[in-house]
Amino acid sequence: MIDLEQVRADTPGVGHVAHFNNAGSALPPRAVLDAVVDHLRREAEIGGYEAADEREGRWEHTYDALARLIHAGRDEIAVVENATRAWDMAFYAFRFAPGDRILTGRAEYASNYIALRQVADRTGAEIEVVENDEHGQFDVAALERLLDERVKLVSLVHVPTQSGLVNPAAAVGAITRAAGVPLLLDACQSVGQLHLDVDEIGCDILSATGRKFLRGPRGTGFLYVRRDLIAALEPPFLDLHAAEWQPDGSYRIRDDARRFENWETYYAGKIGLGVAADYALALGLDAIRARIDGLARSLRERLAAIGGVTVHDRGQTLAALVTFTLEGRSATEIQRDLVAQAINVSVSPADSSQLDLGARGLDEVVRASVHYYNSEDELDRLVAAVQAAA
Ligand SMILES: Cc1ncc(COP(=O)(O)O)c(C=O)c1O
Repeated sequence: MIDLEQVRADTPGVGHVAHFNNAGSALPPRAVLDAVVDHLRREAEIGGYEAADEREGRWEHTYDALARLIHAGRDEIAVVENATRAWDMAFYAFRFAPGDRILTGRAEYASNYIALRQVADRTGAEIEVVENDEHGQFDVAALERLLDERVKLVSLVHVPTQSGLVNPAAAVGAITRAAGVPLLLDACQSVGQLHLDVDEIGCDILSATGRKFLRGPRGTGFLYVRRDLIAALEPPFLDLHAAEWQPDGSYRIRDDARRFENWETYYAGKIGLGVAADYALALGLDAIRARIDGLARSLRERLAAIGGVTVHDRGQTLAALVTFTLEGRSATEIQRDLVAQAINVSVSPADSSQLDLGARGLDEVVRASVHYYNSEDELDRLVAAVQAAA
């Protein structure tokens, strides 16, 4: 069980706003804020390199915390700037040839799809979209039918940016693993809100961000690459951190996942990211999930009961993101109305998810994303404000 009073006491932001933009960037706990500010202060006092040396244990700990969070090894983790860069560093390491097939799904995120498209256009590989099943989620049976020896990668978004869907990642992983096809899982929206175990899921690569449900600092993200795949993936960019320049003029790429990092990094953020992972682990991912699920279900039901509101989330399992439209009002207008009342929600536009919102003919939806620290009072305020806007 989440101790609501305690987690709210730990979260300075709840005194200012009812924050339902956790899928954008959550309010960090004080421990994360303090860790970041403290490190920045130390850098200002003794110098950036010196502060990094002095506190090596703190930022090295981040690899252990993230590894625990997703049940991986610390050598399989790279800490980078954001989820997109994490995803890109792995994806652009694949070598595709004409006729290769890359499978994706309707939940695919804009940045991922743009990268898929660019690489397909350059290499002659083909992108194919695995359709949704009758529940509105990635169709596992369709995937099975589509797999053949030409499929070189499956890209799956676990929880999309634009809806409450949780895609059946473990069912997908069981199939890709049996077929020997790498599964690249975008866990940007699921890390910090769902229990994640890379072995249970069967993914080979996982990308995630710090600032969303994990409640870490902005400008942080991480990548997991399965140990036995690391050596096969040559990063698209190399520097003197990812590789070592040899006296004979050649270079040797690192053996661990840090080959996907680069030398200069945001140490304060890296430390804060580890503190955020520790905080989530201390609460427990099952307790986090249970509280989020209760809040999201209640919000969906209450919004759906308002005349003119349509809730758009589809799928057998739903997460923290609650998306809706209100007849006669644009999503942007609603967001503006709510922000004026210190209630934060966001707008998901079709151009962040053309294969889903675009295909469903939805230009934009309001996205209210709950976190475990949201109170029932805040939910009441949100529902009342939408009711008033209707
Ligand atoms: C599903 C999904 N994937 C990837 C990203 C990109 O994450 P980042 O902004 O950390 O690069 C987002 C961001 O909203 C997302 O929702």
